[in-house]
Amino acid sequence: MTLEALVNYAKTYGFIYQGSEIYGGLSNTWDFGPLGVTLKRTLKDLWWHTFVTQDAHVVGLDSAILLHPKTWEASGHVGGFSDPLIDCKSCKTRHRADHLIESAGLGLSADGLSKETLEGMIKEHQIVCPNCGKHDFTPIREFNLMFKTGIGVTEESTQSIYLRPETAQGIFLNFKNIQRTSRQKVPFGIAQIGKSFRNEITPGNFIFRTREFEQAELEFFCAPGEEKNWFESYKAKMKEFLLDLGLDETHLKFEDHPEEKLSHYSNATTDVMYEFPWGFDELWGLASRTDYDLKQHQDYSGVNLEYIDPITNERYIPYVVEPSLGIERLFLAVLHDALEEEALENDTRTLLRIHPKLAPVQVAVLPLIKKRHKAMAEDVFKALLGEFRVQYDESGAIGRRYRRQDAIGTPYCVTIDDDSLEKNTVTLRLRDSMEQITLSLDELNPYLKKALTR
Ligand code: GAP
Repeated sequence: MTLEALVNYAKTYGFIYQGSEIYGGLSNTWDFGPLGVTLKRTLKDLWWHTFVTQDAHVVGLDSAILLHPKTWEASGHVGGFSDPLIDCKSCKTRHRADHLIESAGLGLSADGLSKETLEGMIKEHQIVCPNCGKHDFTPIREFNLMFKTGIGVTEESTQSIYLRPETAQGIFLNFKNIQRTSRQKVPFGIAQIGKSFRNEITPGNFIFRTREFEQAELEFFCAPGEEKNWFESYKAKMKEFLLDLGLDETHLKFEDHPEEKLSHYSNATTDVMYEFPWGFDELWGLASRTDYDLKQHQDYSGVNLEYIDPITNERYIPYVVEPSLGIERLFLAVLHDALEEEALENDTRTLLRIHPKLAPVQVAVLPLIKKRHKAMAEDVFKALLGEFRVQYDESGAIGRRYRRQDAIGTPYCVTIDDDSLEKNTVTLRLRDSMEQITLSLDELNPYLKKALTR
């Protein structure tokens, strides 16, 4: 499935539309339509259920998007959260220097390299502008990715403030509050899901890299020395979560950062890579961040953020292990993994072979002939409505309605026909095998419950 086909599919079926479309569109913004918002919400709910609800040692948070400006000085975002920008003097296009090198087809890796090294590589390999083919660049400049806005009502009182580029810092700021009020003992974690904003220089690849996106982040606080065990345990849990969503294991890679490429605050980092239509790219990050963040906030705020062990009375700043996931990237991976054009005997069908627990519509109720079967079909639909994600569809030939449901990934279609009226039965059509089975009306709900809670 190419990226273009995926974008068309997502629009055609109401998963994702171009943002501000009636005004000609606002580039790299996307709106999630009825099926898209349902799938996105389901993914967030499953993440929350797995990493928060099911874990007695993890609690949740919903912190503000606007944080005190000192937050971003302490976290290093004011000084260091930037991308290396380079302009082509010939055609005036702007590029990310590391991307320019990596996409030159020379098999070079430029991740995390200094400005000077990047400039040296561009010169040494005579890398050219992908737009005009010339090798004539400006020096590299660092471009901060945070969105700046103003807070306050008058010109004079307006104070500059940033939209958060990650949800994590809201967690660090609340570490003490949460530890006290929830009476958690280290080790414990704090999780949140929310919007983050980055003024990306090269957004693109549909919803993969955008300027506004949702993150599901978890900061797990532990005693120094225990972080490597928790790191490994989260790595295993993340893999299990992705496989449980039905992702193909061969489309996933766990790439550990070599020691020389670790950020100065990290003693272990793994990127979970998914094979998107353009190749393997980052889906989820896992970082062991030592005590860096809490220490920085302690220094900048002057508030003591030490933890006192209730048994040993030992005082220390906890170490942190952080799994950080982009919800839109997970959405894209799930859609890409499930979507196929299946060849049938005399035909093809668009099939979204998505895990039933993720399907935006889990059950479709279809009267075979509208005039005759509508009343009973509506009763069946109403009876299922509160239990599953259900859709009622009476328009068009039954074969076309099945195809439409296949295309949006509906695992079960319930058809009401003459037999239903006479014998109180329904026909259940299965998405993947297209098999049809007859069930009594009484059997329907328990059958679906069992099938959809797998
Ligand atoms: N707190 C750590 C942190 O934010 P990151 O690697 O910068 O780490 C974590 O981001 C995850 O957020 C990424 O793995 C990716 O899934 C998602 N993400 C980052 N930038 C994004 C963007 N511009 N658009 C969509 N998702 C993004």
